[in-house]
Amino acid sequence: MSTPPDLHRKHIVLGLSGGIACYKSAELVRELMRAGAGVQVVMTEAATQFITPVTMQALSGRTVVLSQWDAREPNNMAHINLSREADAILVAPASADFIAQIAQGRADELLSLLCLARPLERCPLLLAPAMNREMWAHPATQRNVAQAQADGAIVLGPGAGDQACGETGDGRMLEADELRDELIAFFQPRLLAGRSVLITAGPTFEAIDPVRGITNHSSGKMGFAVARAAAEAGARVTLVAGPVHLPTPRHVTRIDVTSARQMHDAVLPRAPRHDIFVATAAVADWRPASAGEQKLKKDGSGRPPAFELVENPDILATVARLPAADRPWCVGFAAESHDLVRHAREKLQRKGVPLVVGNLGPATFGRDDNTLVLVDAAGETELPAAGKLALARDLVREIAARYTPRPA
Ligand code: CTP
Repeated sequence: MSTPPDLHRKHIVLGLSGGIACYKSAELVRELMRAGAGVQVVMTEAATQFITPVTMQALSGRTVVLSQWDAREPNNMAHINLSREADAILVAPASADFIAQIAQGRADELLSLLCLARPLERCPLLLAPAMNREMWAHPATQRNVAQAQADGAIVLGPGAGDQACGETGDGRMLEADELRDELIAFFQPRLLAGRSVLITAGPTFEAIDPVRGITNHSSGKMGFAVARAAAEAGARVTLVAGPVHLPTPRHVTRIDVTSARQMHDAVLPRAPRHDIFVATAAVADWRPASAGEQKLKKDGSGRPPAFELVENPDILATVARLPAADRPWCVGFAAESHDLVRHAREKLQRKGVPLVVGNLGPATFGRDDNTLVLVDAAGETELPAAGKLALARDLVREIAARYTPRPA
C-alpha cells in the first residue's frame, strides 16, 4: 500500500511553554514523526524546568532551539528562519502566561517572538492549552484565548479530567494522539464545512434468544473511516454504530445500537436534520420473528429448533423515500461477491439514491484497505486500493463534488 503518511512532508515547529503537561510533549514528538512530519522543537525557559531539551532533541533528532540569542543561526534570526520553514506552529503545552503573551503580541522569548513573526496567511498557529481548571476558567484567560483566536490562532481542546494538582475539570492538555489527529485534520480540505452527515456503520445483531443471534463479519472500519473523514472535512457528523469495538473518531457524535430496528429508529428521526446520509452498515436483512425470552434448550430429540424469520426495514430505502424537504442526499454501499458494477447499479435504481459505492464484500471485511467503485447516473468511478481512511477521504471529496442541497 503506497498511501503516504498523514503528515508526509509537513514541517512542524513544536513549541513548549512551561507546564507539567510537557511530559506529554515527548510522546507528541513521536506521534507527529510517526505520522510523517519533521519536528523542530522550540522551548521556553519555563518549559526546560519540566522536561529537558536533551529528551526533546533525542526524540526529534534535531537540536532544540531555546533562545533568540542562539549564535548558531548564521543570520542570528532564529525567529524568522523557524517561522518561514514551518507548515504550522503547534504550541503544546500552551500555558496561561504564554496565551497571554500571544494575546498581547509580546515577544520576550523566542517562542512568542516567532509566533509574532510568522507570516499570518501561510503559517497557522495552533495552541493546546494546559493549566489548572481555575486558571482556564479565569476571565483573564478566557479573554486572552478569545483575543488569540480573533487574531487567527486555533485552539485545540483543552480536555477535561484529572489534573496534576489533584483537581478535576477543564484545562488538561489533549493527549498526544488526539493532538496528532487534530493536526492531521487541520491539513485536510474543509470540503463539507457547514454540512451535516449521518452515517450508519458496522453489522447489526438480531437476537434469537438472550444469548444467541444473527450477525455478520462487518467490522465497521469503513463507516468509522467515513465518519472521521467527514469530520475532518468540517462536517457535523452523527454516527449510528452497530456492535463494534472501535474508538469514536474525534468530534463525531456516536449512537450505539444493536439490531436493525434500533438502527432504523435511531436514523429516521435524525435524517431530516442532516444534509447527507451515508449507509455503510451491513444491516441484517432478516431477524427471528420473535426472540425467545429464555435460552433455547436442546430437547434431546436431536432436532434443531425451528424459528421463523421476518424481513428487517430497509433503512436506506426508507430514508431515500422521505419527502424531498426532509430527505438528505443519500449514499448507499453495496458489498458484493461478484458482478460488482452490475449489482451496484441495480441497487442505485432499486433504492432510489444518487450514489452507490460498491466494494467486493467478504474480501474487505475487517481489513484495513479496500477498493471502491462509485456508481451514479453519470457512470463509474474507481477509487484504487488504499487504506480505508485514505479511501474515505477520497469518497468524501467525491460526495462533496456531487452533493446537491435539498430544496429549501
Ligand atoms: N441497507 C439498509 N437497511 C437494510 C439493508 C441494507 O440501510 N435493511 C443499506 C446498506 O447499509 C447499504 C445498502 O443498503 O448501504 C445495500 O445493502 P445490501 O445489503 O448490500 O443490499 P440489499 O438491498 O440487502 O441486497 P442484496 O442482499 O440482494 O445484496
